[in-house]
Amino acid sequence: MNAQATPLTWTAIGTLDDIPRQGARCVRNGRMTIAVFRTADDRLFALEDRCPHRNGPLSQGIVHDGCVTCPLHNWVISLETGAAQGADSGATATFPVRLEGTTVLLGL
Ligand code: FES
Repeated sequence: MNAQATPLTWTAIGTLDDIPRQGARCVRNGRMTIAVFRTADDRLFALEDRCPHRNGPLSQGIVHDGCVTCPLHNWVISLETGAAQGADSGATATFPVRLEGTTVLLGL
C-alpha cells in the first residue's frame, strides 16, 4: 500500500491551445500564481510563477531546452524540477500537469 498518498485534485484550466507554444498561462491558486508552460514540442509543466532568485515572474521568461530563463536576471530554471541551473542554487515549486484530450489538468 502507498503510505504517502494525499490524493491530487485535478482541475481543468483550459485547453492546450490556450497556452502559447514556448510560453505560459497563469492560474491563481489562493494567493499563489502558478505558471503552466508549453514547450515547442507540446510538453506541459507547471511551476510557481516566482523565480527562486528574487521572485521574478517566470511566466514572462523565455522557454527553451526544457527550461525557462527568468526575465529579470536571466537565471535558468528547469521546467521539470524547478531547480536553478548552472552555478545558481534554489528551486521553485512544481506541480503535476497533464492532458486529457485537449484539456489541460493541473494537479493540486
Ligand atoms: S528574479 Fe529571476 S533571475 Fe533574478
